[in-house]
Amino acid sequence: LSFQYACNDGDPHHSMWIIALKNIFSRQLPNMPKAYIARLLMDRSHRSVVVVRHGTQVVGGITYRPFHSQGFAEIAFCAVTAPEQVKGFGARLMNWTKEYARKQDNLQYFLTYADNNAVGYFTKQGFTTGITMPKEQWHGWIKDYDGGTLMEGRIHPTLAFTR
Ligand code: ACO
Repeated sequence: LSFQYACNDGDPHHSMWIIALKNIFSRQLPNMPKAYIARLLMDRSHRSVVVVRHGTQVVGGITYRPFHSQGFAEIAFCAVTAPEQVKGFGARLMNWTKEYARKQDNLQYFLTYADNNAVGYFTKQGFTTGITMPKEQWHGWIKDYDGGTLMEGRIHPTLAFTR
């Protein structure tokens, strides 16, 4: 099992993982238009952390958009394929995403609009509905969205998320 950091940079492995992730998000996030999912995944300002089994099989992932000058990223999509849910992949995936976001993108916070049925998952991963980041640091940078609960996850500056 590996946790890969990928964006649409022309690397054929990255393209393969991003296409597989698009299919998982399309199934697992039925309220999101498929064309919107595809557009953000292909957009070069987004990054994905992909759970890969046996080198090729994509089990799930998280796609986020970093706002480097503001020190945070918005998590756009997060999902694990149905037969592999509730086995611990989602928790490990979030830890790896925090690790990459800190190391590769130098971020301190995540924000996300969590679907109501995913608030429990994000809470287990340390996210809160109280936003501690100063409002001027994020307000206006991400779109308001009615269909979910805005949650914040602070990325600890030194904690080892992965072992
Ligand atoms: N409600 C409450 N708790 C949950 C939920 C939930 N829906 N899902 C997982 N958990 C808990 C688990 O019980 C577990 O707790 P534990 O550590 O005490 O055992 C912990 O969260 C981690 O569980 P995992 O098995 O690691 O989670 P999983 O691999 O199933 O991944 C995920 C969670 C990504 C939400 C997955 O179930 C999924 O893809 N669901 C459908 C799509 C979805 O809802 N995605 C999020 C939409 S919001 C967004 O994308 C911004």
